[in-house]
Amino acid sequence: MQDLSEHLNFTKEIAFDAGKILSKHFGNISSINKKSTSIDLVTNADIESEALIINSIQKKFPNDSIIAEESDIKESSSDFKWIIDPLDGTTNFVHNLPIFAVSIGLQYKNETVLGVVYNPAADKMFFARKNKGAYLNDKIISVSSSYTLSDSLIVTGFPYLQDKKWNDSFSIFKEFYSKTQGVRRLGAAALDLCFVAMGRFEVFYEFNLKPWDICAGSIIAEEAGALVTDWDGSKYPESGERIIASNRHVHKEALKILKKNCFINKS
Ligand code: IPD
Ligand code: CA
Ligand code: CA
Repeated sequence: MQDLSEHLNFTKEIAFDAGKILSKHFGNISSINKKSTSIDLVTNADIESEALIINSIQKKFPNDSIIAEESDIKESSSDFKWIIDPLDGTTNFVHNLPIFAVSIGLQYKNETVLGVVYNPAADKMFFARKNKGAYLNDKIISVSSSYTLSDSLIVTGFPYLQDKKWNDSFSIFKEFYSKTQGVRRLGAAALDLCFVAMGRFEVFYEFNLKPWDICAGSIIAEEAGALVTDWDGSKYPESGERIIASNRHVHKEALKILKKNCFINKS
């Protein structure tokens, strides 16, 4: 397996360029549309950012597969697959809240080998390659050293679809709330994972996410020392169906709460 330094530099460049597009539209969006539900939004910034990323990949790596949130899947026989969220945190973006990011992951033979998450509003570039550590703007990052949930600040999110599972998820929220120093809901899963990676949060958990929400952020968290699993402790589904990332030390304690509430089953 090649060391992927060329892929990494390329991915950082396109994430930065896509971030420039988002910054240009931030506070100045000309079109907002609704997708699956009335709260699932897409803007012209999502679309432009995605077009730039896909065009750049297709130019440099024309044979690779691409899965991107706003486009049809491009399947090929290549061992490389790009997984893209051109704007994670669209609702924040629409409300002028600067918590959003470009998220680009790369898989080789179905294993994530590289991830880049760029928050243009704070000029924060998170990146990682398999077995090569995780970085924020070229400085190595690592998870926090808290040993108990009672010493932890944690983060979660809620899906757009407000079904039975959504309703049930509030009991989990309540239990974490009573056992930690607080639960935050920032609205950008890719950044939530990066904030676990850099030690701001001890735990991130969520369900009903998509591959592009978690692909890049998961490898960044893992390379920073996080444990990333499914809610039952097994390997997390790359579909994004259920995920928990923690600083490792509090994983068992957090899993106890999630397992007890495993009525939010994988489908
Ligand atoms: C959303 C964000 C949010 C999460 C949602 C995602 P989008 O992504 O990551 O934190 O709670 O489930 O869909 O729609 O802003 O790309
Ligand atoms: Ca997303
Ligand atoms: Ca998105």
